[in-house]
Amino acid sequence: MKIGLEGIAFNIPEHFINIEELACARGIDPAKYTQGLGQKEMSVSTPCEDSVVLAAGAGRKLLEKFNIDPASISHLIVGTETGIDHSTSVSSYVHLMLGLSKFCRVFEIKQACYGAMAGLAMGINYLLSRKAKGSKVLVIATDIARYGIGAAGEPTQGAGAVAMLISDQPSLIEFETQYDGYYAHHVMDFWRPIYSKEAFVDGRYSIQCYLEALEGAYHFYKKNALQSGLVHSVDNFNKQFAACLYHVPYVKMAQKAHIKLLEIDAGRTFGKNSTYLEHAQNDFNQRTLPFLELNSRIGNVYTGSLFISLLNFLEDVKPEAYGKHISLFSYGSGCGAEFVSAKVLEGAAHRMKRDSFRKALDSRKRVKANRYEEMMDACARMDDNGGNVCQPEKWDLQRSELYLGVKGHKRIYSIDGKIIQ
Ligand code: CAA
Repeated sequence: MKIGLEGIAFNIPEHFINIEELACARGIDPAKYTQGLGQKEMSVSTPCEDSVVLAAGAGRKLLEKFNIDPASISHLIVGTETGIDHSTSVSSYVHLMLGLSKFCRVFEIKQACYGAMAGLAMGINYLLSRKAKGSKVLVIATDIARYGIGAAGEPTQGAGAVAMLISDQPSLIEFETQYDGYYAHHVMDFWRPIYSKEAFVDGRYSIQCYLEALEGAYHFYKKNALQSGLVHSVDNFNKQFAACLYHVPYVKMAQKAHIKLLEIDAGRTFGKNSTYLEHAQNDFNQRTLPFLELNSRIGNVYTGSLFISLLNFLEDVKPEAYGKHISLFSYGSGCGAEFVSAKVLEGAAHRMKRDSFRKALDSRKRVKANRYEEMMDACARMDDNGGNVCQPEKWDLQRSELYLGVKGHKRIYSIDGKIIQ
């Protein structure tokens, strides 16, 4: 049975800050953010754009763009580490906003940035079962990455959501369902205590944990590929992939990951200034970097970052890649990781046409550093009970889904002007 992506769409805040401007505001050499981290711009959410609003917007775009009947969706799974309540889930609000059937399995997964990949794996297994009977699974990754003003992680903030519909009628990519590779190991590289809006991170250690998890997941993937009987050799296994996509907290992390992948297959580390390293960097420029434009202009979307890169790939994919495989690596701090592969389906680029991601990026409004700081400050107070009614005009917002604040200890949203709580 073929299981894969039938549709994908994304949604981002309406504002952004130029990364060089942020560096100047912090008294830092802009080259550190542009060359050292590989970033260009950073999405900034206003108080009216929380993880529910971003997710609902992405889901609505997907249903419309791919002409999907909401009644065909039997599962809604939201991966997020930007929870809005200790008990009720982001998915519960999104279920209502998308008008999905009451006969739908609805839940949220938290496993740092790995949550949405865990949702996809769960969805694939359900669709492979005899219970699915042609129904579809909607997985939405939604997050607002926040480290705080002046923190080392500040230039790696960002926000957005990616909605993905998986079914037995894939039109974009078909997942390899016979083998995959996952990995978990408890580490304190990045976390957000229950009392904090901002994440804590052991920055350099988190890079090491990411690369160790890539090694673990990729080894397990190759072992499982051999055991499946479909593959007879895993020597230089990465060579089969037309594109190698990674979790992208910032662009340069994906470069470190790709070099690591090639080192694992080569069985050696590539020395500084070696021709091996030069070849690996060139290979990154061919198979990964072309699909990181969106990431470099949004920033980190935690659970959504890998899938932002996938969307970029699918919009720009050339017919030469049809029928070939791509790899996808998800890393969630703490940590959980997974390495999977998928086949690119004929005509994928054509199905992605209509509203290009570049148009969505270019229609955003640029803010200066002081306005960004004002937005950050207002977001921090937005969940206090009573009184903080969001004024969309104050934040220059046009979107149809809005978070309005908390009243009577309940979150209030509006969708197309209709109040929901
Ligand atoms: N010109 C050019 N490059 C410069 C430069 C300059 N003037 N100054 C510094 N650089 C380079 C450095 O050499 C370094 O490159 P390498 O990593 O290749 O050595 C890079 O810019 C960053 O410099 P520093 O390491 O000095 O920067 P930092 O200590 O301020 O923090 C960071 C960098 C650790 C990534 C920090 O931004 C951070 O903590 N980010 C959040 C955590 C994160 O994203 N971790 C990634 C793995 S964990 C994960 O993936 C899960 C997740 O989503 C959070």
